[in-house]
Amino acid sequence: MERKEFKWPQPLAGNKPRIWYGGDYNPDQWPEEVWDEDVALMQQAGVNLVSVAIFSWAKLEPEEGVYDFDWLDRVIDKLGKAGIAVDLASGTASPPMWMTQTHPEILWVDYRGDVCQPGARQHWRATSPVFLDYALSLCRKMAEHYKDNPYVVSWHVSNEYGCHNRFDYSEDAERAFQKWCEKKYGTIDAVNDAWGTAFWAQRMNNFSEIIPPRFIGDGNFMNPGKLLDWKRFSSDALLDFYKAERDALLEIAPKPQTTNFMVSAGGAGIDYDKWGYDVDFVSNDHYFTPGEAHFDELAYSASLCDGIARKNPWFLMEHSSSAVNWRPINYRVEPGELVRDSLAHLAMGSDAICYFQWRQSKAGAEKWHSSMVPHAGPDSQIFRDVCELGADLNKLADEGLLSTKLVKSKVAVVFDYESQWATEHTATPTQEVRHWTEPLAWFRALADNGLTADVVPVRGPWDEYEAVVLPSLTILSEETTRRVREYVANGGKLFVTYYTGLVDDKDHVWLGGYPGSIRDVVGVRVEEFAPMGNGFGFPGAMDHLDLDNGTVAHDFADVITSVADTAHVVASFKADKWTGFDGAPAITVNDFGDGKAAYVGARLGREGLAKSLPVLLEELGIETSAEDDRGEVLRVERADETGENHFVFLFNRTHDVAVVDVEGEPLVASLAQVNESEHTAAIQPNGVLVVKL
Ligand code: GLA
Ligand code: GLA
Repeated sequence: MERKEFKWPQPLAGNKPRIWYGGDYNPDQWPEEVWDEDVALMQQAGVNLVSVAIFSWAKLEPEEGVYDFDWLDRVIDKLGKAGIAVDLASGTASPPMWMTQTHPEILWVDYRGDVCQPGARQHWRATSPVFLDYALSLCRKMAEHYKDNPYVVSWHVSNEYGCHNRFDYSEDAERAFQKWCEKKYGTIDAVNDAWGTAFWAQRMNNFSEIIPPRFIGDGNFMNPGKLLDWKRFSSDALLDFYKAERDALLEIAPKPQTTNFMVSAGGAGIDYDKWGYDVDFVSNDHYFTPGEAHFDELAYSASLCDGIARKNPWFLMEHSSSAVNWRPINYRVEPGELVRDSLAHLAMGSDAICYFQWRQSKAGAEKWHSSMVPHAGPDSQIFRDVCELGADLNKLADEGLLSTKLVKSKVAVVFDYESQWATEHTATPTQEVRHWTEPLAWFRALADNGLTADVVPVRGPWDEYEAVVLPSLTILSEETTRRVREYVANGGKLFVTYYTGLVDDKDHVWLGGYPGSIRDVVGVRVEEFAPMGNGFGFPGAMDHLDLDNGTVAHDFADVITSVADTAHVVASFKADKWTGFDGAPAITVNDFGDGKAAYVGARLGREGLAKSLPVLLEELGIETSAEDDRGEVLRVERADETGENHFVFLFNRTHDVAVVDVEGEPLVASLAQVNESEHTAAIQPNGVLVVKL
């Protein structure tokens, strides 16, 4: 796949490069009197960029073919003259009412055939030629009108594609799916083979017999090969739509462009790694996970985003200053987290920090979503924190942060959208196991051992790291198998877990014992699985297994029936004799070529992994950082190639005070106190310290 050349929005004329700071700005939802106050407050907070017109279609084209840019011209002019750059949307995220009234055929259809009606947003279907026409017309009008506008520094194409319209089962989608299959497979026989249609009389005679995976009755099971391709197709259909919008804008008005992704630990609707090849710069919307995983999940997701961006700078397009409005319970952030969260994205390679949204709405479905200026107004803790953050960002830019990138880790944890999709099928060994939880658990367990890992997509350069983790990476294609084999043979250090390498990219099982395509690399052969449950539904069924290293497996264990001569057992199960598990291997290490491969044959969770890792890290020869800051603090470094600018971010991961040595010059201390004479700092819970070496 060819990757678009990296391009980044440039500062307004006469301004020096800054970390972009701001948010979604929806002035069209407010009377014009508010705009001057907005601009003044933005200046006070250090805001230097806002995203405008994302949901403005109905105001930009109030009637078919009638365009009104006057209001937008006035807003952009006010912003630009105040030194605030504009990330301008294509305006196409949500169609106006007149369009859906005259063209109901643009609405998407769910798997039971129900039509998604207007009333919210993103009710359009990606495969509608009619909707495409309308969207491209608006893109061209926007491009023509704003191509020479000096304040518009980038294009924000649509918004969060697929958030609400990922799957569409309409007739348009059916035709597009047939074409997609024809392009991918060439012949219907190849599709029959890929989808294993010999099973349950599903054989098709020609492409017109391909239909979307519509309703099949509750409790029945969709063909897994078809479902996997449907997920690929749905991501690609939106990608094609996006590319058409992007190209319509760029042909007339070339400016750096992006579309905002939704990369977070559980989110896998769209193959963002594939999309990453088709943007000038990657941008992301991230919303925190409430509770104890808040910081780690954020750091993990930001690292994955950096992996998707292939270590080019990326843009945090949206996050929240506090509560969102779309969870059943919308927790606020704790004191300190507003600044800490932003600096964590920054540490992980983002060069822009933006929020949804600038001013909290007074009406509409998002009026309870936090913002930079809350309902309470500027006299509020949130706005004070927003101002503090703006000052911190300016300081870091002055000190040279923008010349740096996230320093490459020694460990890559691999994430794969398609493995996630495959494990989501409803007929699997257990519904308790999915791919996505495992890279996160490894990232956290490595952090508990003083290692900040890079999260790297399976297409990415994970084989260039000292060590690699394949955590429940269910799909190993032939290509990935080849890369894994070469990596270890040439001296790589590999961690593999249960549920890895079960199937190829058609979701066909690699035969002969699991993990079929890399059995010799890991030096174990798994004959059966032992899923486990909580025993409420089936009293007496196995619900956990103890290991002799003091850890406990839940949900899943492998039945490892042989261990190669080149391998040895590091931990075994301890269980009642009648289970067949007592003394059976659970964790092993194998020599393969010049490298080593550790195999973890059970779900140990973050805690069990953290506890098992010291021995494995030693066996594989991976050094961790100093004893004293293990696990308490996440250390993230950004540096430039010369090493002249080298920043260390230290985040407290605990709810206790963490005392750290200070090696360089402290630049930002949020909930952290530096003791200059002792060269130490006390970092409070939710605190962060940034130093320059
Ligand atoms: C039923 C069906 C079979 C098969 C089994 C699986 O008996 O007739 O086709 O699906 O269940 O348990
Ligand atoms: C998404 C959307 C925004 C807004 C926020 C709320 O990221 O892009 O328009 O709805 O969610 O969290």
